[in-house]
Amino acid sequence: MPACTLPAAVKEQKSFLESLLQRHGAVLLRGFHTTATAEDFNDVIEAFGYEDLPYVGGPSTRTEVVGRVYTANNAPPHRKLHFHHEMSHLPSYPRKLFFFCEEVAAFGGETPILLSHIVYGKMEEKYLEFVEKLEELGLIYTIFAEEEDDDSSALGRGWKSMFHTEDKIVAQQRAAKLNTKLEWMENGVKMIMGPTPGIKRDETRPCKTWFNSIAAAYTAEGGDRKDSEKMGVSFGDGSPLPENVIHDCLKIMEEESIDIPWQKGDLLMIDNLAVLHSRKPFTPPRRILAAFCK
Ligand code: FE2
Repeated sequence: MPACTLPAAVKEQKSFLESLLQRHGAVLLRGFHTTATAEDFNDVIEAFGYEDLPYVGGPSTRTEVVGRVYTANNAPPHRKLHFHHEMSHLPSYPRKLFFFCEEVAAFGGETPILLSHIVYGKMEEKYLEFVEKLEELGLIYTIFAEEEDDDSSALGRGWKSMFHTEDKIVAQQRAAKLNTKLEWMENGVKMIMGPTPGIKRDETRPCKTWFNSIAAAYTAEGGDRKDSEKMGVSFGDGSPLPENVIHDCLKIMEEESIDIPWQKGDLLMIDNLAVLHSRKPFTPPRRILAAFCK
């Protein structure tokens, strides 16, 4: 009898896995030793059969590996990536994320995850006025992109790869479809994204989620000089976000999250509407691959 491979199991148990994902927001598949390489991971993604979502308009640098598989984020190992929903600053975002551990880190590199409706609930309880303003006005994200990718920054994607073109007019047209204005500058382009909602109602569950990238964008503002030039976030009318509230939100996120310590061959499914994710700094090697689906 042939060994049961993960793609075969996925095809057979797809609705069961979907029900787990719906109930918990994230599912970790561990111990499937026949799934070890990027090609194997791609076969699993194909077995799920979800529609692909091209990575257009996102600020992180990623490398195409094989088929629908990319590196998760090329940001340098010492950088912590803060909590975000993938592509939450854009009108269309992936509903399902898949991460795969091809190589574990020598130290660190866990992927913390966090139920987003818990953040919403805690913030509403403590900062009702802020949450109401956020719901009413939404958010504007500002990102600066150079021409080419720069892997030394967590937000280092160049505009050419971000918009999949070398033509400024085409980039402008693609940006407009993403509710993004471009202001061309001498050494790159400033992108003004939004206003876009900062909170979303999860139509499949009776709750609202903290569907934004405030933590990632705000900490970039106050953190590393290179990233602070690249990204900022404000309310949708341009007014600043209150610093104390955001810092408390970051604290809530740390308290409520759990870390996923990777083992080789692990495959993590995430419902991107329900769960926020981040990345801890690490000592190389570490190779986490990703695929995003509609
Ligand atoms: Fe991410």
